[in-house]
Amino acid sequence: MARDGRKDGINTRLAHMGNDPGDFFGFVNPPVVHASTVLFPDAATMASRKQKYTYGTRGTPTTDALAKAMDELEGSAGTIVVPSGLAAVCVPLLAFLSAGDHALIVDSVYHPTRRFADTMLKRLGVEIEYYDPLVGAEIARLMKPNTKVVFTESPGSNTFEMQDIPDIAAAAREGGAVVMMDNTWATPLFFRPLDHGVDISIHAATKYPAGHSDILLGTVSANEACFEKLYDTFLTLGTCAGPDDVYQVLRGLRTMGVRLARHQESALQIACWLEAQEGVAQVLHPALESHPGHAIWKRDFSGASGIFSFVLNGGGEREAHAFLDALDIFGLGYSWGGFESLAVHVFLGDRTVARGVYAGPVIRLQIGLEDVEDLKRDIEKGLRAAGS
Ligand SMILES: Cc1ncc(COP(=O)(O)O)c(C=O)c1O
Repeated sequence: MARDGRKDGINTRLAHMGNDPGDFFGFVNPPVVHASTVLFPDAATMASRKQKYTYGTRGTPTTDALAKAMDELEGSAGTIVVPSGLAAVCVPLLAFLSAGDHALIVDSVYHPTRRFADTMLKRLGVEIEYYDPLVGAEIARLMKPNTKVVFTESPGSNTFEMQDIPDIAAAAREGGAVVMMDNTWATPLFFRPLDHGVDISIHAATKYPAGHSDILLGTVSANEACFEKLYDTFLTLGTCAGPDDVYQVLRGLRTMGVRLARHQESALQIACWLEAQEGVAQVLHPALESHPGHAIWKRDFSGASGIFSFVLNGGGEREAHAFLDALDIFGLGYSWGGFESLAVHVFLGDRTVARGVYAGPVIRLQIGLEDVEDLKRDIEKGLRAAGS
């Protein structure tokens, strides 16, 4: 809410949040502070450690502006800004897990999160267990006395399973675990995890916040109970982000609402249209009524972003590659959230619990800001190539 009690809409808030132009001579945007050294006026101030800024790794007016904006969006007590979305996953896991602890991680998790858990966390003596994204309140049965973290991601990477976050968070907290959520898909515009019992909300700001396929950045926003430990780990690791990238993400936030509205509308149009196309067995988009997690999406989320998958009706790698190679507008690339459309043949071989049964290869589409009719024509070409 604004200082004068106004309840502004999201685009008004995105246009103004984070920094106060009055702090920097009226310039609308905050300065990009390139800093390692910060000077102190005298020895006593230096020894007191009370000066607002003390060293570049610990924060600058630029990082503060983005952290403040994320806190407003997420309803969090504090946000750390780190060099990538993957770092935003790893830093909180390192903060809250120690040797001998048990962590529950959703099986439909972003693959590099699994890699970090299966390699580094296991090497550090953490017991890792994957759970079914559809587990809901039944997660209580998987909780052990040493379960310290329950990691969620909803919808799931590539296959878009919806998790019942309020039920999972309640059971996890009851068992004494910290609940983390990779909220990259929804952005805080469409889902606010901390309002649903999650302690820590993670973003690959690389995606919609940055929005232009040229920046890597991560944010981690925590509630009051968890922020101190998170911030302490962030300082211990020195995982601070570069000021130019932080600035670009703050810049991206200004237009994120209008970009997301377009991504949402175009993706939904294409998802609905795809359901009726020959050669398509299934469309995996939570905002479609046909999606098994649609009721949860409708109950908890206020929108859908621009990435979803569909399943080809039969075939294997050859058909998937034929589809991809026939595309002209869609690029073949892994990231998403940028202005351009992308496609990728999804790898599901890492799953241990939520393997799913699909009629054919799963193709993930990131719908960019191009014209929908052009994108449909491109997909039609791909479907024709896959079917011939
Ligand atoms: C759900 C999710 N989380 C985290 C990340 C990691 O982001 P980054 O590429 O900035 O490391 C990605 C990247 O694709 C992602 O899809």
